[in-house]
Order: sequence, then structure tokens, then C-alpha cells
Amino acid sequence: ISADDFAQTVVNWQRQHGRNDLPWQQHNDPYHVLVSELMLQQTQVKTVIPYFQRWLEQFPTFTALANADEQEVMACWQGLGYYRRARNLQAAAQKVVADYQGTMPQAMEELREIPGVGPYTVGAIRAFAFDAPAAIVDGNVKRLLGRLFTLPYVVNKSTHDKYFWELSEHYTPTVNNRRFAQGLLDLGATVCKPRQPTCELCPLQKVCCAYQQDCVEDYPKREVK
Ligand code: ADE
Repeated sequence: ISADDFAQTVVNWQRQHGRNDLPWQQHNDPYHVLVSELMLQQTQVKTVIPYFQRWLEQFPTFTALANADEQEVMACWQGLGYYRRARNLQAAAQKVVADYQGTMPQAMEELREIPGVGPYTVGAIRAFAFDAPAAIVDGNVKRLLGRLFTLPYVVNKSTHDKYFWELSEHYTPTVNNRRFAQGLLDLGATVCKPRQPTCELCPLQKVCCAYQQDCVEDYPKREVK
């Protein structure tokens, strides 16, 4: 499948069948995107939603979070786990306020320097906040690509990450990347699921190598330890 057809297919599917009413999608605000992406890193969507809403009430902007009392910040995160994310989030807000007058930068090189922002989050911020081109790779994207192309790459082996990134970059469109990136995540979460994927609902079924070979559940490959 060509990169253009792939992107068009995912974008059209997202428009009709993707998730478009999640609370962090309502404003495309870079602060909302950063908060939600850090919360979603190790936590499910339905758990994150009420935390996200309380967080925005208590710390509505980068400036509010930067100036907040650390105890209050930690208390608001209480129950989400992986508390380093909360500390990183406040440190990120402090950097955005100190270095960028409270406005999130768009450039990859600047985003990379923000605490808690790794390669996935750089792409997510560029895609979701700015609708700018940048690849994303997470577990959903690896699973989808692994099946679509019956990739030999192993999802839990960090030396293979570069192959997933190269593929994801190849398919990232120069326009509509917000909807494309959301479509990849939505497909991975609702159709191309880890178990019992609903291939009959997948817009990529006809071009999916694993589906054609009746081996969807054998992908993505995992390292057996
Ligand atoms: N997981 C990470 N980012 C997400 C998003 N924008 N929507 C749904 N799930 C996600």
C-alpha cells in the first residue's frame, strides 16, 4: 500500500469510526495534550478521563501548574501511579513558562528538551496540538504495523524500535497528521486489539499481510524470554 493510500484510509476511517469526543481532543491545546499524553502513558483511557478533568480544574494552564505547590500536584495525581510523571509534568510546565513564556514550542529539537517528553510524546504533541507532521510509535502502532506487514521485528526489544520508527515516519502524512495519528491509536485500541482483533471492521483488511495469511494472532512478534 502506498503511503498516500495508507494515510487516506486511516484518516477516512478515523473520521467515521474513531474516537472524537475524548476530553483532551476538545481544544487541541498543547497543555491539554501534554497532560493527557503523560497520563495515558501507563494508564487506560477510562481511568484517565476523571483525573484529566480534575487536573484541568485545579491547574488550568502551564503557568498555574508551574506555580502550584508540589504537594497539591502530587495529591491530584494520587491513584494514577508512576508518580515521576507528575513531577515531570510540573517540571515541564516550569520549563515552558521559563523558556517559552508559557507557550509550548513546536520544533522537535525544543520539545525533546522538555522533562518527561520522549520520542513518542514529541510526535504526539506535534500531531495532536499542532496538526504537524511527526511520527508516533507506541504499543498500538507497533502491533498494527507488525500485523499489516508481518514484520519480524520484536515489539519488546529496544534495538528493533528504529525499524518501527522508520516505517511510521514513512507513512506519516504531511497533512491531516492529527487525524492520522489519532486514527492509528484508535485502530490499535478498538479494532487491531491485542486479543480477538475485529478484522472484519478494519479498513486495512484487504492489504493486511497477517490477515491474508490467517496469522493475525501471531503478530506482532515478541521476544520469548
Ligand atoms: N493514548 C495516547 N494518546 C491517546 C489519545 N490521544 N487518544 C486515545 N488514546 C490515547
